[in-house]
Amino acid sequence: MASSNTLTVIDNRTATRYELPIENGTIRAMDLRKIRTDSDDLGLMIYDPAYVNTASCRSSITFIDGERGILRYRGYPIETLAQHCTFLEVAYLLLFGDLPTPDDLKNWVSEITYHTMLHETTKKFMEGFRHDAHPMAMLVSTVAALSTVYPKAREIHDPANRLQQIKRLIGKMPSIAAMSYRHSLGFPYVYPDNDLSYPENFMNMLWKMVEPKYVANPVIARALDILFILHADHEQNCSANAMRSVGSARTDPYLTTAAAAAALAGPLHGGANEAVIEMLDEIGSKENVPTYVKKIKEGHGKLMGFGHRVYKNYDPRANIIKRTAENVFAATGRNPKLDIALELERIVLEDEYFITRKLYPNVDFYSGIIYQAMGFKPEMFTVLFAIPRTAGWLAQWQEMLTDPEQKISRPRQVYTGHELRQFVPVEKRVPVLHTTG
Ligand SMILES: CC(C)(COP(=O)(O)OP(=O)(O)OC[C@H]1O[C@@H](n2cnc3c(N)ncnc32)[C@H](O)[C@@H]1OP(=O)(O)O)[C@@H](O)C(=O)NCCC(=O)NCCS
Repeated sequence: MASSNTLTVIDNRTATRYELPIENGTIRAMDLRKIRTDSDDLGLMIYDPAYVNTASCRSSITFIDGERGILRYRGYPIETLAQHCTFLEVAYLLLFGDLPTPDDLKNWVSEITYHTMLHETTKKFMEGFRHDAHPMAMLVSTVAALSTVYPKAREIHDPANRLQQIKRLIGKMPSIAAMSYRHSLGFPYVYPDNDLSYPENFMNMLWKMVEPKYVANPVIARALDILFILHADHEQNCSANAMRSVGSARTDPYLTTAAAAAALAGPLHGGANEAVIEMLDEIGSKENVPTYVKKIKEGHGKLMGFGHRVYKNYDPRANIIKRTAENVFAATGRNPKLDIALELERIVLEDEYFITRKLYPNVDFYSGIIYQAMGFKPEMFTVLFAIPRTAGWLAQWQEMLTDPEQKISRPRQVYTGHELRQFVPVEKRVPVLHTTG
């Protein structure tokens, strides 16, 4: 009689029966290796393009239940954290596992604030970008360039050294983001003001002009902080996976974070909120929504800001953002795109096509509309996502480095190419008709 916590597999090729242990709802892919036809056979592998059903790590950072629309950081519901915490408090939670005491928080905030300044060479480096460079490309390159400023960061096995780089990255991310923004506008860079909170200081570096002291609108500052909390981590998404995968080669945290940010820059990941605004512009008015939706259903593109690999019910972050939007619009005036977005959401949520495919608004659907109302150009949206996600990436990176089960990340493949081919000298080769598709 097989133990109840196992999976019995019968290989019909050999009529052999195997018992594989089940732990935490998973079997170990390496246990499949013993399922072989003969001694030359490498063993059975899992074929899982895009890792849709593969757990690549054990993690105690973020919990998502996509069917029930639950998101928790270190056990705390996202709704509670967004209501009661600051972003830096949440960053501490992600990195250290528990919420900070008042003293811990005071020290943490002061240490992060101390690291907001950029080296002058980094500033000069940024000045070299073309005036119309995309801010996300500037951010990715500049984060990578920090590796040249802090060569000691390579000592990733020293916990104190790692913590130093973590503080630097969280502190400097808003400074780099703000400089890339001002660069694209042709405005002079603004240095950090350490009297201000994390979001206020970011606003200062973005928007201060000639006034002697920047005073942030508290509603906008709080909304930004909430958006930072919502974006701080999201377990094994594309960029976190890039962070873990690149970091597994023991690359330094600046280059590794740049790789994660590069993954975030794609339109199917962090770039989606920029694409949402482009889509709303293309729709143009509320009246055009049904025609646009019809076009999507006929297979012409995707509705940006809808659908999620994990959330198949609703994205809890989208609900919080929708509520935050009301406060922001009270301070900034209503973004006219909101009416198109609300109509789109209404139509989609009643449409059989989207219902059967479990497509709901995701975090990016409303965040772009808020950012635009705050005065950001769409090119900046992903940069705004990268600032808080840095805390999540670094938490994932630390967890990966300190997990004794982890090694350099290296998936297998199913080779579908030629068997051994005969080499033909160049003068004897005949044209081959290649088809693309
Ligand atoms: C997020 C996303 C990449 C998840 O993709 P996924 O888990 O691989 O889902 P799939 O591509 O397998 O989609 C399943 C079905 O829904 C459809 N679908 C998925 N997202 C869709 C969207 N936004 N609009 C229209 N149809 C969509 C797919 O075409 C597919 O239909 P089919 O079964 O008829 O082929 C995808 O939903 C998407 O591209 N969304 C738009 C971009 C976006 O907002 N990204 C931000 C994510 S936070």
